[in-house]
Amino acid sequence: MTDKKLLHPVPVGRVALRNNLALAPMAGITNAAFRILAAEGGAGLVVTEMVSAESLKYGNKKSFKMLELLPGEHPAAIQLFGADPASMALAAQAAERAGADLVDVNAGCPVKKVQRSGAGAALMKTPQLLGDIISRMVKSVKIPVTVKFRVGLTAGENLAPLLARVAEEAGAALITLHGRPASQFHTGPVDLPAMAAAAAAVKIPVFGNGGVENAAQARAMLEAGCAGVAIGRAAVFNPAVFAEIAADLSGAGAGSALTAAARMRLFLRFLELNAGIYGEEHGLARARKLVGYWLKGLPGAAGARASFMRLKTLKEAEDLLIQYTGGRGAL
Ligand SMILES: Cc1cc2nc3c(=O)[nH]c(=O)nc-3n(C[C@H](O)[C@H](O)[C@H](O)COP(=O)(O)O)c2cc1C
Repeated sequence: MTDKKLLHPVPVGRVALRNNLALAPMAGITNAAFRILAAEGGAGLVVTEMVSAESLKYGNKKSFKMLELLPGEHPAAIQLFGADPASMALAAQAAERAGADLVDVNAGCPVKKVQRSGAGAALMKTPQLLGDIISRMVKSVKIPVTVKFRVGLTAGENLAPLLARVAEEAGAALITLHGRPASQFHTGPVDLPAMAAAAAAVKIPVFGNGGVENAAQARAMLEAGCAGVAIGRAAVFNPAVFAEIAADLSGAGAGSALTAAARMRLFLRFLELNAGIYGEEHGLARARKLVGYWLKGLPGAAGARASFMRLKTLKEAEDLLIQYTGGRGAL
């Protein structure tokens, strides 16, 4: 069954998302090169890796580099983490100056180091502080402020409707709701009823997130009342997953799955974009930790992966991928 209404543009404040399928933020993965692939692959919104508001406050160069956006990736949100409303407001201004279309608050990161500073998922324990952060940011920038959190801290807990109302009252324009509790990090089932309750509790759009890999899973979240879907890891294996799901949801039939050669072409494009951002050698080095994702499930992946670790130039990468996919014609 297809339903045209499930796929639709989303107004987020003054920003128009061309569809309701977003790339979820992923530290170490959603850099500008990857975001461009996702935008080209049909994502209606892309999001940076989380950037520390405190690091920006102290002028950390690496953090400022993470704010850099490229022309091919808009609309793009910059995601910030922090627990101090003043620092988050300053960081939001830096994000706005960097050209972000939206600025997103990370209130769902389960990593201990982040939570110990009161940021990430720890903000779910302090709804008033979360509200203060959002409203301070809303007052400090013209771009819409959005927030991402989880259904709860531990399994079975449903804090989402309350937090959604807090976010809406504070002026947030969109919520991304990860349907797993913080205690489960990124594994296990999502709590669809809790997500439905949160979506019903507010007027602003709530994008569901967690474990969506195909149109059926996206449809389940949309039919539960989510205004959109954010996709994380499935996009890492296939940045064209958005277009595939969109084709299915809009009734154009199931999008065709990516062939191995098409995936390698995308990987090569990713490497070229990465080289443009970081330089050839450094760009390749940064891609090393992602090569496993790109080759996953393909024959001979282990050998190709090992060879990849020694590459220094794009030409070598191209030769390896040509050899791997069975000749230049295939690539
Ligand atoms: C490697 C990795 C890094 C992540 N980094 C962030 C992050 O910086 N900010 C954030 O809000 N969520 C982060 N997440 C969570 C994702 O945005 C998403 O909520 C989660 O992966 C569930 O979606 P999925 O099942 O579609 O991958 C990260 C997840 C992974 C796997």
